[in-house]
Amino acid sequence: MNGGRSSVRATIALLPGDGIGPEVVGAARGVLEAVAARFGHTFELVEALVGGAAIEATGVPLPPRTLALCERADAVLLGAVGGPQWDSPTARVRPEQGLLALRRALGVYANLRPVAPIPALAAASPLKPELLAGVDLVVVRELTGGIYFGTKTLDQSVTGETATDLCTYTTAEIERVVRVAAELARTRHGHVTSVDKANVLETSRLWRRVTSRVMAAEYPDVRLEHLLVDACAMHLIRRPADFDVIVTENMFGDILTDEASVLAGSIGLLPSASLGAAVGAGGTRRGLYEPIHGSAPDLAGKGVANPLGTISSVAMLLRYSLALEAEARAVDDAVRATIDDGIVTADVVPPGADARRAYSTAEVAQRVVEHLAAPVAHR
Ligand code: IPM
Ligand code: MG
Repeated sequence: MNGGRSSVRATIALLPGDGIGPEVVGAARGVLEAVAARFGHTFELVEALVGGAAIEATGVPLPPRTLALCERADAVLLGAVGGPQWDSPTARVRPEQGLLALRRALGVYANLRPVAPIPALAAASPLKPELLAGVDLVVVRELTGGIYFGTKTLDQSVTGETATDLCTYTTAEIERVVRVAAELARTRHGHVTSVDKANVLETSRLWRRVTSRVMAAEYPDVRLEHLLVDACAMHLIRRPADFDVIVTENMFGDILTDEASVLAGSIGLLPSASLGAAVGAGGTRRGLYEPIHGSAPDLAGKGVANPLGTISSVAMLLRYSLALEAEARAVDDAVRATIDDGIVTADVVPPGADARRAYSTAEVAQRVVEHLAAPVAHR
């Protein structure tokens, strides 16, 4: 069945979260079950609360039970967190705190966000098709440091309020994420673009110095280029095919990846893998896997959310945390075949096209499962 390889037992934590999270994670569950059935593996899929759903049930966005499950699991798949009901600027607890605490607790410091537009979906992007030809990049976003995790203060005085968010980076935090980017570049086109704001920020100047040193000393075979973040934002749209691996700090990576998702046609297509230190034999890493989109409260419960970003995150989970490369490719192929069949959600139906071409979350997921169960030769 699986080419004579032994079957694997793994515990996978499923954290649906809020908004469309439960729908896309439900779709991904079906895909994990189909992979287990086809390749003879046993996946124990255990669900837990995170984000707003956890606040409602327990008062906190990352309940101890959820964290304990994630710490013992082989990998974690998360949908999305957040929603208008928890958005008050004066709220004491927020769904997003649960996600940030989980990333930090799991030590998943390198967030890989690949963007490779699929030609069949080119019309879904507002950009010209000729601009998109040959685009194949990965953003490696530092995920457990920087301004997201610095001290935050809000002080009142007679003259008004003062707020502070401290941005801190250490040499070690920069070195380890740069190494992930460089190793990845070696398996791709051997080109790393490091993005910072070294003309203004001290953290960025440290970032640039450390990156230059690590790359020169350890990766002389990998081409290194530095770009300022504002220029990078422009070049991502002007010449996206020139990028291979982009490495950058936490907040710049957050912003640039939403921008880069436009290249793919829809943010709903894009997966991510957040990886920590290597733990397993064969270099498997502890991982948290999420689509890069948010909870999209306006779409929740309607069955229209694109499940492919989450399903592609399953492929990354199989690849990086379970070292199941053939299985990961089977999922990627099934996603591709589903898109080639034209079974896609409304977000990737080109504007002006026949609206009947839009399928539901469940229909798209079902087609992926069918392709997994009975793979067809394609491409
Ligand atoms: C992302 C999201 C999160 C982030 C939010 C939900 C905290 O935008 O994963 O990109 O900013 O990291
Ligand atoms: Mg974001």
